[in-house]
Amino acid sequence: MEFVRNLKRTHYCGELNRGAEGQKVVLMGWVDTRRDHGSLVFIDLRDREGIVQVVLDPKKEATSSAKDLRGEYVLAVEGVVKVRPEGMRNTKIKTGEIEIEAIRCQILNEAATTPFQIDDKNVSEMLRLKYRYLDLRSPRLQKHLMTRHKVAQLVRKFLSDQGFIEVETPILYKSTPEGARDYLVPSRVNPGQFYALPQSPQTLKQLLMISGYDRYFQLARCFRDEDLRADRQPEFSQIDIEMSFIDKEDIIAVNEKMLRLIWKEIKGVDVGDIPRMTYQEAMDRYGSDKPDVRFGMEIKDLAAQVQGSGFKVFDDVLARGGIVRGISVPNGAEFSRGQFDKLTDLAKKSGAKGLVWIKSESDGTLASPVSKFFSQDKLHQMYQTCGAKVGDAVLIVGDDFDPACAALSALRLHLGKELGLIDTSKDKFLWVVDFPLLEYSPDDKRWVARHHPFTAPIDEHADWLIKGEESKYGQLLAKAYDLVCNGYEMGGGSIRIYRNELQQAMFRVLGMSPEETKHKFGFFLEALKYGTPPHGGIAWGMDRLVMLLCGTDAIREVIAFPKTAKATDLMSDAPSEVNRDQLAEVGVKLSAQAEKHLEELKKGSPST
Ligand code: AMO
Ligand code: AMP
Repeated sequence: MEFVRNLKRTHYCGELNRGAEGQKVVLMGWVDTRRDHGSLVFIDLRDREGIVQVVLDPKKEATSSAKDLRGEYVLAVEGVVKVRPEGMRNTKIKTGEIEIEAIRCQILNEAATTPFQIDDKNVSEMLRLKYRYLDLRSPRLQKHLMTRHKVAQLVRKFLSDQGFIEVETPILYKSTPEGARDYLVPSRVNPGQFYALPQSPQTLKQLLMISGYDRYFQLARCFRDEDLRADRQPEFSQIDIEMSFIDKEDIIAVNEKMLRLIWKEIKGVDVGDIPRMTYQEAMDRYGSDKPDVRFGMEIKDLAAQVQGSGFKVFDDVLARGGIVRGISVPNGAEFSRGQFDKLTDLAKKSGAKGLVWIKSESDGTLASPVSKFFSQDKLHQMYQTCGAKVGDAVLIVGDDFDPACAALSALRLHLGKELGLIDTSKDKFLWVVDFPLLEYSPDDKRWVARHHPFTAPIDEHADWLIKGEESKYGQLLAKAYDLVCNGYEMGGGSIRIYRNELQQAMFRVLGMSPEETKHKFGFFLEALKYGTPPHGGIAWGMDRLVMLLCGTDAIREVIAFPKTAKATDLMSDAPSEVNRDQLAEVGVKLSAQAEKHLEELKKGSPST
């Protein structure tokens, strides 16, 4: 230890280059790899900035520890920077032109054999998550976290320069609905009562507008108990923004400016014009409210061609107000029966009841499992309407609007990826606007807010809400907008309701009784009475943003300690059982079902 105490690190491993030739340096890091050539030992020394080759002579006293080195040992090395001879250079690493000739080397700490080689691409994600601190040593994750840090710094500086004030809001709070279930925290000092972790700081940022802070932002942690996917975590971060005395255009302008800055600084890319598309157009053309517009394969309406064909499925769908639409698949005529069956399964998994395909045969005729219902002429019309050419195939789904769109969108995305139609060299952005305010939930048998209950309807439709004209609820448009990138919803926001009576009407339409409204949002409705400015805002998914910037499609790759799809942390084993005394203290008793689950867990066979 003497040695370290007398030494100060001079550089990070990854920052050295031939400009430092002849310099004496002190490095500290981990042994990435070791090659023993007998008279000389070569190691790659790694720290967060990269890797550099160190050459040690085990015969010399001061570097004799070279004999004992193993992977992931922690070292302090003093040495001289040498330019490697021609032919010995490694073009794969930043420091490949040089190496460090060690003068002294000390092992600061040993390491047990790691369960996997750092950055080995063939290791299962489960194992890497269990040893996340080891995976975090990989250049891949180092780069991701560094990018995340840079984005946070850029955003803070940009928004501060634009007059926004960063304000922290509570984590122990009351339910802030964003469509997911709440994570609840029992209160020991108030037995029987619970905090809800915020799904977003939505009501809090609106209260800050009421308080006159005018422009707020926060890198806010949000918590949502919902089904997890590759781009969703139970806790995640938002770049949360709110502004007063503005309209939609002001919000879009500030956010486009921030987007341009981020892409320029992180990727060196000038983002061009960001087009806008209405929700309806996005659904009609791509079957999704977050369309990936990096490729075509747009959806076409085939109602006119299939009308009255006698194919009962389509006739029934159209009769009940559904849609029959299709997409053309380049070179799809080569698909085998098995491939069409797989596509049918995908359509069914996405909510449709089946899939009809048409493909061209070598003699120019068109084949389809439903060809007995359609003349060749009709089949050709459908083919042409979808923009298909000889050698292509057409996939058709008939159903109610939402499931048909969902299935066609899933097919389009799947085939776009599989057939290599997506130009991944460019990011494509889009504002989706004019969302419906409400949607009907058949499960709950009531109207629910598409965004959240604080989003304002467009002015022309506000009366429908206030007067409770239910027949028009489905047509109500919201002052809401989403920022979409490469098929991901990167951010979303809205202009808010700022009048008490409209907010009350909204809660009423959502089926909340006056008592429930008072219990959940009484404080908020009260606040709206005391001089609320017109306001609106947006929240970006910080994790999704960084994921897109890093070119990965898993949000776990840009979060230091992420959770699995079952919302567990494999490293610390969270969530875990707590001692019964602790539960009693917070006034909580486990249900029989929960007890049974714990028993099963102990036996190693949980039913859930
Ligand atoms: P919204 O619910 O659309 O809006 O969320 C805003 C953005 O947050 C990201 N996001 C997520 N990221 C990772 N994991 C999740 N589970 C997750 N859920 C959402 C998305 C999304 O676009 N309060 C409003 C914003 C506003 O109106 O200002 C809100 O939270 O990128
Ligand atoms: P069936 O009449 O159920 O045997 O279906 C005949 C063909 O129509 C099969 O290829 C089904 O996959 C397809 N099909 C069934 N329902 C739908 C639907 N809603 N949309 C598109 N194709 C369907």
